[in-house]
Amino acid sequence: MALKVAVNGYGTIGKRVADAVARQPDMTLVGVTKTRPSFEARSALDKGYRLFVTGEGKAQDFEQAGLTVSGGVEDLLREAEVVIDAAPGKIGGANRALYDRLGIPAVFQGGEKSSVADHSFSALANYAACLGSRRLRVVSCNTTGIARAASRLSSRYGVRRWEATLVRRAADPGESKKGPINGILPGLDFPSHHGPDVQTVLPGLPIHTTALTVSTNLMHVHVNQVQLERVPADVEELVRVFSGSPRFKVFEAGDHVEGTPGVVEWARDLGRPRYDIMENVLWRQGIHLAGDEVRFFQAIHQESVVVPENVDALRAMFRLETDPLRSMAITDRTLGLSPRGA
Ligand SMILES: NC(=O)c1ccc[n+]([C@@H]2O[C@H](COP(=O)([O-])OP(=O)(O)OC[C@H]3O[C@@H](n4cnc5c(N)ncnc54)[C@H](OP(=O)(O)O)[C@@H]3O)[C@@H](O)[C@H]2O)c1
Repeated sequence: MALKVAVNGYGTIGKRVADAVARQPDMTLVGVTKTRPSFEARSALDKGYRLFVTGEGKAQDFEQAGLTVSGGVEDLLREAEVVIDAAPGKIGGANRALYDRLGIPAVFQGGEKSSVADHSFSALANYAACLGSRRLRVVSCNTTGIARAASRLSSRYGVRRWEATLVRRAADPGESKKGPINGILPGLDFPSHHGPDVQTVLPGLPIHTTALTVSTNLMHVHVNQVQLERVPADVEELVRVFSGSPRFKVFEAGDHVEGTPGVVEWARDLGRPRYDIMENVLWRQGIHLAGDEVRFFQAIHQESVVVPENVDALRAMFRLETDPLRSMAITDRTLGLSPRGA
């Protein structure tokens, strides 16, 4: 029997997660929610997803817009075995009382405090520790990107110290009210919240992060400087470690992928839905080794990198697959991610 999944919140993350769940052989999407009618609500119905009203939303507003709703969020939750909360940051935490009252396990997103769940989750970092959990929180896009890379380097070489500067996109492409549209905003906190957030999935990782926000909406870019305990033979070995892992794409010099515009163009040419790039993106020319220190750049597509993680979180919670690599293999194949070693 396929796991019955509800998605509460059908925005940037929720609509992608809903599509991903609908593609899994061991899961069924029971329905999705919106607070108000919109083109996204209409496209959910066009895809055959059942639509429910959540938050302060009113069924009559949907009906007036000619959109058929199947009930309220509680009706949806009663039909499901688990809910993925993809409500705006902080609202998921407030939704938890509803999930608790109905006794339904839940997956939350990175905009919530880590205390919302039993564990924070990132598939490469701590899948096994999350087996059987009733509440997981998939960490944010930036945290997911660093946790994946850190899990690869720490398990293979050990990490003495990790310094990362996160160059963050200002807004998602669909957002029109966020900025800056011309400027660079340093995050004045040191460390930024990302380092402690990575430690929720990799406790003890000696990481310090700083962050700044720039005028772009395509992707984030991380500048990483990592001191290792054991020294890799050469850069080629590091490339093999990254590209031999699920959820990494390493571009070669001959690909001529110059920065995030090139990465997005690559995804468009592949015909990826919404040009989603769910892998950590590295450049072979952007990986440097000097003594015990590795420096590398990676780009992270904020809108989609957490999507496969939500799917694996469900498999870990319900023990649909106890081997993380097998779960990731199913997820990545169904979502069309780059094969390992590509
Ligand atoms: N966007 C990113 O780059 C990104 C990356 C990683 C993680 N996250 C995290 O993912 C979560 C969702 O972010 P998002 O960017 O997808 O937000 P979003 O685009 O604003 O979408 C939020 C969705 O939640 C719905 N909603 C509003 N109130 C709700 C309620 N009370 N209960 C349930 N749903 C409600 C909204 O419906 P209406 O539109 O009908 O009001 C909308 O469909 C946040 O925790 C965020 O931090 C976001």
